[in-house]
Amino acid sequence: MRKPFIAGNWKMYKTIKEAVELAGSLAGALASEKKKVMIAPPFTALAAVHEVLKDSNILLGAQNMGPVEEGAHTGEISVKMLKDVGVSVVILGHSERRHVYKEHDHLINEKVKLALLNRLEVILCVGETLKEREDGLAENVVENQLINGLDGLQQKQLDSVIIAYEPVWAIGTGKTAMPEDADKMHSYIRKILGKRFSKKTAESMIIQYGGSVKQGNVRELMNMENIDGALVGGASLKAETFVPIVQFDKN
Ligand code: PGA
Repeated sequence: MRKPFIAGNWKMYKTIKEAVELAGSLAGALASEKKKVMIAPPFTALAAVHEVLKDSNILLGAQNMGPVEEGAHTGEISVKMLKDVGVSVVILGHSERRHVYKEHDHLINEKVKLALLNRLEVILCVGETLKEREDGLAENVVENQLINGLDGLQQKQLDSVIIAYEPVWAIGTGKTAMPEDADKMHSYIRKILGKRFSKKTAESMIIQYGGSVKQGNVRELMNMENIDGALVGGASLKAETFVPIVQFDKN
């Protein structure tokens, strides 16, 4: 049985004060929640939010990290720095990193390996653009991102990996994939995991859906066989929109 995992990605929003306020509201509202829940504030707010979350059941996530342990990498944040401020999960390969900042599969794979080596959990994001979908390449693109992103991992390391399928055309656009289409891709991802790793990995891997998830569509998405959670952007920026997503079973 896969435990649902709902994650909020705050992107480049929130000052420290705003982040602390929101984290405090979430910790209160979700105090008795049994699902796995994570929030990923911007780097500048991680330490302060860690203080707020430390006695809660909400995990602290980061939105990205540098590809090496330390060194002359102006502007980057290392895995050790993330651990130092209490981060336990890191989002890697988000489509905004891939498309705006031109991160490629090899770089993302370096980060995935480094994060796992340092005992962080990894949410690896994959997803096709609208053009790729229209050209019939969606499965190919996702397969490559998955195989390359997970290259060189040991079987047991996969227990600390979560996949987020986020079709790029659905992110921040208000357009959500039809639950059946999303489920089809999730099932395809499981098939690839089964071939590349093992049946056990394919069956136990948490695969989140991301892209304009909101209160009005979350339940239908979560009811699909292969969708185990959500990576939420815009709707994670307010307690009144994020809490009902986490509590989708009460909607
Ligand atoms: P969105 O973002 O919910 O605003 O579409 C999702 C994401 O980028 O993870």
